[in-house]
Amino acid sequence: MYILGIETSCDETASAIVKDGREVITNTVYTQIEKHKKWGGVIPELASRLHLETINEVINKNFTSMTFADIDAIAVTNGPGLVGSLLIGVNAAKTLSWIHQKPIIPVNHLFGHVCSNFIDTDLEPPFLCLLVSGGHTQIIEVKSYKETLILGETIDDAAGEAFDKVARLMGLPYPGGPSLDKLAREADDKEKYRFTIPKVSSYDFSFSGLKTAVLRLKENIVEKYPCQWDENKANIAYAFQNCVAVTLLQKIQLAVEKTGIEKVVLAGGVAANSRIRELFKNNFSEGNLVFPQLKYCTDNAAMIAAAAFFTYDAKVNYSDLGFEVFSR
Ligand code: KG4
Ligand code: ZN
Repeated sequence: MYILGIETSCDETASAIVKDGREVITNTVYTQIEKHKKWGGVIPELASRLHLETINEVINKNFTSMTFADIDAIAVTNGPGLVGSLLIGVNAAKTLSWIHQKPIIPVNHLFGHVCSNFIDTDLEPPFLCLLVSGGHTQIIEVKSYKETLILGETIDDAAGEAFDKVARLMGLPYPGGPSLDKLAREADDKEKYRFTIPKVSSYDFSFSGLKTAVLRLKENIVEKYPCQWDENKANIAYAFQNCVAVTLLQKIQLAVEKTGIEKVVLAGGVAANSRIRELFKNNFSEGNLVFPQLKYCTDNAAMIAAAAFFTYDAKVNYSDLGFEVFSR
């Protein structure tokens, strides 16, 4: 089954064709990062306009050797995300579905991230998924391809949001996660700073206190020893990143212990982080740990097409064009 995926939930305009949920035939991502950079974050109106300007070209890029006659269904992200952005992808998908008379499958963006792990692997449920993106931090029990249960989530900032905010207070460019990751690799004393692991019950997370702790440390240094700020930034970035990584590890280890499910899968943009990858590799056996490839960690449409394949139900009528987009 060949599925055309379309994704426009935030600041990436993406489309892809995926065969049987695991084999990527084409994958195009147009990122708007450079356009939002000077504002220090995503500007929703600008994002919608850029999606509108690029969506046709991004979709057409899939069709150099295939035509719509080869496509079995169209999958599109309908939430959560920026409503104005989602509408561009959803309207493009609905139009194509109507013109070419193809089934249309609305996909939850978060489930899309989970399914990025099926690409080029033989992964099968059950497993635990740690989803760490810009808007979400969740531990999801994936019981089967069609049944998932959220065991815990963040009570305030998402992990990616914390990375972005801490990067900004360190004067690093948007998007903060990759910039901070890069800076942390320059740390010359990884033990110099240590942040307290946030204490939150069961499988839930909290990162806003950690972000405040970094801010207080910065204020303290800048006030008392201003010349030391620049020379210690990399060590502080490392300590912050390590604290996030250890927090995520401890929570997922608790979930493994309590559920008895040993297979752990990561997903979302923050899963690209080098320290998180290193720490998880050191703590789980190779057979029990799956990371999506770096290009499928951040937003893309291949994961959306994969998610549609695994949820597709031949008994359902997918001709309904009336479905809406949702922000949360
Ligand atoms: O999954 P994603 O592309 O979009 C959402 O659905 O939110 O995740 C974006 C988030 C941003 O917060 C970005 O800073 C973070 O992923 N990110 C990283 C890294 N690469 C991307 N965070 C830490 N380290 C990275 N290497
Ligand atoms: Zn995402």
